[in-house]
Amino acid sequence: AVVLGLALGGGALWLYSDAKVSTAGTEFTRELAVPPLAPSTVRSDGTRVFDLTMQAGHKEFRAGAKTPTWGFNGDHLGPTLRAKRGEKVQVLVSNTLDEASTVHWHGMHLPARMDGGPHQMVAPGASWAPHWTVDQPAATLWYHPHPHGRTERHVQRGLAGMFLLDDERSAKLPLPRRYGIDDLPVVVQDVTFDGVHFDHGRKLMATSGFLGDRTMVNGTLAPYKVVKDELVRLRLLNASTARVYDFGFTDDRRFSLIGTDGGLTEQPVAMDRVQLSPGERAEIVVRMQPGERAVLRSFPQKNYGDFWQTRFNGGDDTFDVLELRAADTLRPSPELPAALGQPELPDGSDSVRSRFFGLQMSGINGKAMATDRIDETVTRGTSEIWTVRNQDGVPHNFHVHDVQFRVLEVDGREPPPELRGAKDTVFVPGGRTVKLALRFTGPADPDTPYMYHCHLLYHEDGGMMGQFVVVEEGGQAGKVRTPHSHT
Ligand code: C2O
Ligand code: CU
Ligand code: CU
Repeated sequence: AVVLGLALGGGALWLYSDAKVSTAGTEFTRELAVPPLAPSTVRSDGTRVFDLTMQAGHKEFRAGAKTPTWGFNGDHLGPTLRAKRGEKVQVLVSNTLDEASTVHWHGMHLPARMDGGPHQMVAPGASWAPHWTVDQPAATLWYHPHPHGRTERHVQRGLAGMFLLDDERSAKLPLPRRYGIDDLPVVVQDVTFDGVHFDHGRKLMATSGFLGDRTMVNGTLAPYKVVKDELVRLRLLNASTARVYDFGFTDDRRFSLIGTDGGLTEQPVAMDRVQLSPGERAEIVVRMQPGERAVLRSFPQKNYGDFWQTRFNGGDDTFDVLELRAADTLRPSPELPAALGQPELPDGSDSVRSRFFGLQMSGINGKAMATDRIDETVTRGTSEIWTVRNQDGVPHNFHVHDVQFRVLEVDGREPPPELRGAKDTVFVPGGRTVKLALRFTGPADPDTPYMYHCHLLYHEDGGMMGQFVVVEEGGQAGKVRTPHSHT
C-alpha cells in the first residue's frame, strides 16, 4: 500500500510505501571487491604517511550503467588505512571535488583539531594534513566526510573507507589476519538506482532518511567471495546512512563475535545475530565446511521492532548481503583463543559527573546543532556517566567522537554481548534509554569542539548534533574558531 506519511519534525509530507523490501534468494553473481590497503611511506621521524584524495568518478555497479560517484583515491569508496598502536600517522587529504568536505576518523582518539569534523573543512582544491599518535587498542575504525548539513549526501556518493588498527597483543593472537583472504572488510551500504544514477530520495520512508532497496558490500552488488580457510573473519561496518541491520546467516549457524566498535571483546562470544545501526562495527568469525556456501543476511528485526523501527526504518526488510563460497579443501585454522583482550574502558565507578541527552529528530536536549555553540565542557582526565534517551520514538543512535565508551545499561539491564565491548556508537530506538561510561583523556583544547550526534545521517544533517570541548581542570570553554579551509 502507498500512503501519505507526515514526517515528524520536518513537517513535510512524504510519500512512503509500507511494502516490505526483500532481496532474499538473491543470486550472487559478482566477485566481492576488496578495498586495497593504502600504501604509506615512513618519514625519518617514524611518521607513517598516507595520501587520500577525494575525487569524482564513475563506477559500473551493473553492466552497461555508469553511475556518477565519489571516492578516495579512486571512483568509489576508499582504500583501507592500517596503522599500529604507538605509531605517528599523518594523512595528506586533498579535495579535488567541486564542493568543500571533510574527512573524519570515526572511532579514533585524537586531538580535536585533527578530528575532521565540521570545523576542519577542506575547500575545493585545498588540502589538509592532520597528524596524531595512535594511542588505542587494535580496532576496526573507519573514515568518512562530516561537512555540516551535507554528510548524508557525501557518504552516499561513496566517500567512506576503513581504518584498521593493530597492537602488540592483537598481532600475537591466533586470529584470521590475512587481509582480503581470511580477514575481510565488509562495508555494507543500501542503495537504490534511478537509471544510471544513485537515487537519493526517501520514497520508502521519511523519518529515518534514505532507505535503499538493495545492499552492496564494498561497492559490489550481489557479491560472493571464495574462501579457502576454515575460519573467516568478517569486519562488518554499517556504512549506510539510515538503515539498521540484524546480521546472521540464512542457516542460522552460530558465529563468534570477537570485536565491537573500538576493539576486541574480552573473549569470543557465540551468537547467531548481531545488530548494527549506522556507524557501528562488529568483527565476527565464521566456520566454513569444505564446498559449502554460507549467506550473510540481514533479518527482520523482531527483537527490536518498535513501531517506528519496523515501519519507518525498514526493520521488517530482508537483505541477502554476501555469499561465502568455501573451496573444496580448506586450510586448517587455529582454534580461536579463549581470551582476546581487556577492553580499556571506564566502568563508571570514578565518574565525576552525570549528563543527560534527550534525542529528538529536531535536536538533542531540545537544541538543534549550532556550529558556534559549545554545548558541553568536560575535564581532561575525568570519567562521566551519560544517560541517553530516545524521546520521540523515531529510530536514533548516539555517537561520540574521540572516545570509546562502555555501555553500562540498556533500559536498566545489562547490555547484550555486542554492546559489552568498546563502543563509540550505540543504537537508541524508540523507548530506549542507555547509560554510558566515558573517559576523556585529552588533550585539552577549549576552542575546538568534538561532536556527539545521531549517526542516521539525515538526522545529523538536520541538527541532531551537539559539541563538546575538553578543558584542563578548572578551565572554561573558549570561543569556537570559525570553520575555515586549509590550503
Ligand atoms: Cu562517523 Cu561524527 O561520525
Ligand atoms: Cu565519529
Ligand atoms: Cu536520529
